[in-house]
Amino acid sequence: MAEARCSAAEAYDFDLRKFLDKPKMSIERQRSFEERSFSDLSISNIRGLDPSENNVYSPRIAARSGFDTPASSTRCSFEPHPMVADAWEALRRSMVFFRGQPVGTIAAYDHASEEVLNYDQVFVRDFVPSALAFLMNGEPDIVRNFLLKTLHLQGWEKKVDRFKLGEGVMPASFKVLHEPVRKTETLIADFGESAIGRVAPVDSGFWWIILLRAYTKSTGDLSLSETPDFQRGMRLILSLCLSEGFDTFPTLLCADGCCMVDRRMGIYGYPIEIQALFFMSLRCALTMLKHDAEGKEFIERIVKRLHALSFHMRSYFWIDFQQLNDIYRYKTEEYSHTAVNKFNVIPDSIPDWVFDFMPIRGGYFLGNVGPAMMDFRWFALGNCIAILSSLATPEQSTAIMDLIEARWEELVGEMPLKVCYPAIEGHEWRIVTGCDPKNTRWSYHNGGSWPVLMWMLTAACIKTGRPQIARRAIELMESRLQKDGWPEYYDGKLGRFVGKQARKFQTWSIGGYLVAKMMLEDPSHLGMISLEEDKAMKPLIKRSSSWTC
Ligand code: GLC
Repeated sequence: MAEARCSAAEAYDFDLRKFLDKPKMSIERQRSFEERSFSDLSISNIRGLDPSENNVYSPRIAARSGFDTPASSTRCSFEPHPMVADAWEALRRSMVFFRGQPVGTIAAYDHASEEVLNYDQVFVRDFVPSALAFLMNGEPDIVRNFLLKTLHLQGWEKKVDRFKLGEGVMPASFKVLHEPVRKTETLIADFGESAIGRVAPVDSGFWWIILLRAYTKSTGDLSLSETPDFQRGMRLILSLCLSEGFDTFPTLLCADGCCMVDRRMGIYGYPIEIQALFFMSLRCALTMLKHDAEGKEFIERIVKRLHALSFHMRSYFWIDFQQLNDIYRYKTEEYSHTAVNKFNVIPDSIPDWVFDFMPIRGGYFLGNVGPAMMDFRWFALGNCIAILSSLATPEQSTAIMDLIEARWEELVGEMPLKVCYPAIEGHEWRIVTGCDPKNTRWSYHNGGSWPVLMWMLTAACIKTGRPQIARRAIELMESRLQKDGWPEYYDGKLGRFVGKQARKFQTWSIGGYLVAKMMLEDPSHLGMISLEEDKAMKPLIKRSSSWTC
């Protein structure tokens, strides 16, 4: 059975890229959703927007039936893996209803676990794979309701003690409070004021914009993104990140724990996890913001920021063999504009493991870059999102995939995919995490393996024309995930053990698996969460061999 599936899948290897921009001809064309390129929107040219034919996308309205009839490909159909039906059932069980309408999915449906903590809530970031699964299955209502409800929550006054948070902040999570006596239902939300560490979720707003575009692109329904409320919601999120300050870099300055890695893990400053989402949400917003009086000002600011951000990231966050060698030979204490070592990185701070980890072919975006600081850790989300948003050039995207293949043992091992590599241990762990017992080496956020990341890896594989890598990873996953009860994460260097404190029936592990499966089956789904390269963003510098091989 497995072999039959595999060979059918192999027969399906062809240039998937052609799917990305092309509408599905067989599908009824409704309203078109323009993809504007930001090169079209050079600052002086914002008025003259003229979307070319290529940038016009015909949405897929194809409503697909329930979970027992998963989407079938346009070219050939697949025997669904027995896990798929179980996953759909578990995903449906996790649905949260508010006044009779589905509004999201609970983080984990784990009755065996004594402490619920906040796993009974709908997390914005956790809902993304669920939402994509529903969209891909032709069930957009829950996504629409979620977008509406979270927009409403954004409007709340948010306070931590006596301090008022920015208007645009989106919640990390929310839940429905049932009052059986009064027979009422109310929503309560957490914007960071209840979260461990009291950190606002910087990623929530970005995911919200990315999901709004995915919804719009997949359904062709412009009735959300074009309303004044949604336009305002987007602008409020953006104004949190585009305001002027003391910054000398176009990257976004963040507190530790403000994203999926939501505990202290030494990712404060300019973490790749946020920069990649920031870039992607700016590009998504650009496709949806209206050119009215208020929108126009934002569009100008976005275009400028994207230019600066892509230059900064591609120049200073990119590392490959050649670049590592250059940093190794850096001089320090350079002053003025002629400095090569602009951030004064001391070569002695390069950790030993990088020299072994770096393949001759391949590269990745560093975990963090700031004054006298380079975090050489590899992060999965940031690198996959860099590919999907085209923050990475096509050559860099290829290099990222080359590295994943070359370091398969380390990054995929027995369960895809490491949230970051490597783990920090000993004295460094004490200092960096503050002795966090949940984030011990090779566990949880500290080098743990997270099945949810499979959807991002699969999307990146399809975009770079290497679906076979995703298939290999999914096979590993299929040998364990259901048997183990859909855990949140796995521990150990190879990801062999169910995580120490991992929840079972973790919804985004389930949704992540389904999205990965559906995308492999029908790669045209990729368009929902992928943006093509903008030609104007072609790098001015070509530095090393891994870009061009
Ligand atoms: C953990 C994860 C976070 C996730 C939450 C709910 O706190 O670190 O990323 O959103 O669980 O699943």
